[in-house]
Amino acid sequence: MSRPRVFSGIQPTADSFHLGNYLGALRQWVALQESHDAFYCVVDLHAITLPQDPALLRQRTRIAAAQLLAIGLDPDVSTIFVQSHVPEHAELAWVLGCQTGFGEASRMTQFKDKSAKGGAQQASVGLFTYPVLQAADILLYQTDQVPVGEDQRQHLELSRDLAIRFNHRYGQTFTVPAAYILGGVEKITDLQEPTAKMSKSTSSPQGIIDLLDEPDAIRRKVARAVTDTGSGITEDEAAKPGITNLLRIYSALSGTSIGDLTGRYAGAGYGTFKRELAEVVAAALGPIRERAEKILADEAELDRLLAQGAGRASAVARQTMAEVRERVGFLPAAAVAPR
Ligand code: TYM
Repeated sequence: MSRPRVFSGIQPTADSFHLGNYLGALRQWVALQESHDAFYCVVDLHAITLPQDPALLRQRTRIAAAQLLAIGLDPDVSTIFVQSHVPEHAELAWVLGCQTGFGEASRMTQFKDKSAKGGAQQASVGLFTYPVLQAADILLYQTDQVPVGEDQRQHLELSRDLAIRFNHRYGQTFTVPAAYILGGVEKITDLQEPTAKMSKSTSSPQGIIDLLDEPDAIRRKVARAVTDTGSGITEDEAAKPGITNLLRIYSALSGTSIGDLTGRYAGAGYGTFKRELAEVVAAALGPIRERAEKILADEAELDRLLAQGAGRASAVARQTMAEVRERVGFLPAAAVAPR
């Protein structure tokens, strides 16, 4: 039997991914590539739902791809590619958009959050249909599972609904995908505001640990992380959101259970705990930063690997899209006669 398919995507909208991206999603991408047929995509079409500087977007797309390789994704095992290299994503998004209710799209909380920031009238139609494009990404590849953080759950529900609806209307066409969300790291929070998620668009720089941060920056940010009243190092999301977040990060990166960590640090002060956590984070991220730098030093090779990924992705995307065109009732284009 063929291996189950996974698909996931990440936006190239920052100079580095952050620890929330890494623990909530990217680490699972690496773990799943051995057992699954994995497609991982740098979603530049999604990035332009908010204004982007063109030169910076191009650069950040390469930085994003380099980080995917640096965390341990193997381009010969996983299909790693850039969304805009495969035009079927946009084409399927149009078709799915025509199956999506306006009210249904209006209920997407991420749109509400993001559009509220700039004023709803300023938000683009692209930002509104963002989740439809995400559904197209997923459904194009006949995806079984989608490894993401908790903030993407509602978008995955929409993807499932659209697959079911399309199959019902036009006949069995799409695999109905399931979310793959790992407990404990599904929402890494802001170090300065531990009840909010760590986010490149809303966190302050001090609230985010970047994957490409130098060790000194990591030490500084962990040292300044907001802790809670009282001195105990215990897991309690409601009463101690700051320490709970730090414990989860520590546990995820060290492989030590939270129970063992609270035992080890019982009676220790926040200072000792944070100093040791900073070393754990720095040791985990150091090799990723170094590998990413090496990969970025050879852009031609990186671009070659992305072209290889786009080739493999296209083969699947074209097949799905041909079936969709047929199902929907589009007239096949006759071959154009050579002049
Ligand atoms: P993006 O780039 O905003 O986030 C990438 C991944 O990181 C996860 N994540 C977090 N997980 C835990 N704690 C956090 N603080 C945290 N912040 C971010 C996100 O859940 C996500 O998995 N819409 C997607 C991109 C996308 C996509 C797709 C994903 C486009 N098409 C198809 C899956 C399948 C997004 O939010 O990317």
